[in-house]
Amino acid sequence: RKGNFSSCSFLLWFLPSFSFSMSLDISCGVLFPPRLPEPPKICPVRTAEHTITPLNNTDHFLVSAFMDQRVKGFDLRIISIFKTNSAKPLYCLFCCAGQLSNTTPTNILQHAENFGFLFVTADIMCQIPQNCNATHVTLQTKPERVKALDQLWLPIRNQKTTGNEEKKLQFNFTVCISNLFGGINNVSASHHTLHSVDRVVIYNTSCGPELDLLFQSYSRTGFLEIVPWPIDLFLSPSWGWLYSLSGGDVHYFGQLATLNECVYRSMDRSRYVLLNDIDEIIMPYQHNNLTSLMNTLQQQHPKVGVFLIENHVFPKTVFEPSKRFHLPKWDEVPGFNILEHIYREDPDRTKYHPYKLIVQPRLVEQVSVHDVLKAFGTTYIVPPDVCRIIHVRGSLRGKLDAKELNEDTRLWDFHEKLIPNVDKALERAGLLRSEPAL
Ligand SMILES: *[C@@H]1O[C@H](CO)[C@@H](O)[C@H](O)[C@H]1NC(C)=O
Ligand SMILES: *[C@@H]1O[C@H](CO)[C@@H](O)[C@H](O)[C@H]1NC(C)=O
Ligand SMILES: *[C@@H]1O[C@H](CO)[C@@H](O)[C@H](O)[C@H]1NC(C)=O
Ligand SMILES: *[C@@H]1O[C@H](CO)[C@@H](O)[C@H](O)[C@H]1NC(C)=O
Ligand SMILES: *[C@@H]1O[C@H](CO)[C@@H](O)[C@H](O)[C@H]1NC(C)=O
Ligand SMILES: *[C@@H]1O[C@H](CO)[C@@H](O)[C@H](O)[C@H]1NC(C)=O
Repeated sequence: RKGNFSSCSFLLWFLPSFSFSMSLDISCGVLFPPRLPEPPKICPVRTAEHTITPLNNTDHFLVSAFMDQRVKGFDLRIISIFKTNSAKPLYCLFCCAGQLSNTTPTNILQHAENFGFLFVTADIMCQIPQNCNATHVTLQTKPERVKALDQLWLPIRNQKTTGNEEKKLQFNFTVCISNLFGGINNVSASHHTLHSVDRVVIYNTSCGPELDLLFQSYSRTGFLEIVPWPIDLFLSPSWGWLYSLSGGDVHYFGQLATLNECVYRSMDRSRYVLLNDIDEIIMPYQHNNLTSLMNTLQQQHPKVGVFLIENHVFPKTVFEPSKRFHLPKWDEVPGFNILEHIYREDPDRTKYHPYKLIVQPRLVEQVSVHDVLKAFGTTYIVPPDVCRIIHVRGSLRGKLDAKELNEDTRLWDFHEKLIPNVDKALERAGLLRSEPAL
């Protein structure tokens, strides 16, 4: 109906107001009885502007609301950061095309993995009342409808649209970079230009000036979506992954909430989502690119929705001796040049070995950092000779020299594409001058 309105809006100028509704509908080719005047919109008066919204009268924080009808009995999932020791009943209140709904009860699903922290990720599930075209939702601690106008409304994302779901996916590959914090200032993010990644989502708490420039320039092209993540304004986030080691309110600057938010944010848009850190590259070893890798894997394993990729460390202290890819023009750029590190550690398989994930977002319900907590499809561990993560970082296995490591020059196969792409990105960000400044 909205579409008809806009295509016929010129009629507004010619028709006397009393015949407006009748004539308009006829002229649009569909006959409706004259409509009663619509009641004035009373909501939403204020919508949440930030990704982290404190919920009044509780110690919880709301992140984002998504339409999700995959679990029977629920329509909506609100991703939240939930204080475990203060669970109280909560009620959903909807804004239905400008009108308040009745409230509906919620079911709170705390994610099973929380690494000992008091604040955990939780999905607040509820049902949308019948005859409500919900555009926004808010939560209350009481079932009675509060007609206050000052509540903050969350827009409901992933609203159902008609048409072939598969066809309208805008992207094949989205990379979710869970968190930037602590003034991190390495520009290795540009290496994502390596593969056929269509889109990168980054949650930004803070970053250093060089990375900031680089990201600003990427986000202007639409390739990068930067989600502000000011968690340090609300909680005292932990710098570590385990409460007993690092203390703090919430795991790793809220990484678990951002990973889940990113999966849902990408659900209607991307065929696959890659969940990895900024300095990790998911590298196919038998295919030229991710498209061809995933087409093969998915054909071999049609029911799989979660692909686990092994992490492999390339110690940043061990350099390739010929200096073939030591590029002096990059000397002034903070961070390191991953092309100079071609020696790979054997993972210690007697210990826990971490994976990172490639998921089909529509088959996933809850994710953690190294695994999926709830999914609709099955999981497959991708053999390392098919695909592994290249992670240039400090050694995990102590001081080893090149002889004790595996030479692995897979990244070099991409140098013709990688170097100009990185140059271009650095130039655009003003981090590399094509000519010396006067
Ligand atoms: C909800 O939206 C649909 C389609 O836009 C419309 O047909 C229906 O009348 C709306 N219902 C209400 C209660 O507004
Ligand atoms: C909490 O209450 C204050 C004061 O009434 C109001 O301004 C704010 O919008 C409320 N927040 C939410 C999330 O509803
Ligand atoms: C995604 O992959 C399919 C087939 O693998 C291809 O036809 C399509 O063009 C790709 N879409 C984008 C946005 O790259
Ligand atoms: C990241 O967040 C910090 C702190 O709010 C801000 O100063 C910086 O400009 C942000 N960077 C980007 C690229 O959005
Ligand atoms: C990916 O690799 C396949 C085969 O290796 C090739 O045919 C295809 O053109 C490549 N796609 C892109 C986007 O580079
Ligand atoms: C960033 O690069 C510096 C070297 O310039 C290194 O010491 C640091 O560990 C790197 N940080 C990350 C998160 O990779």
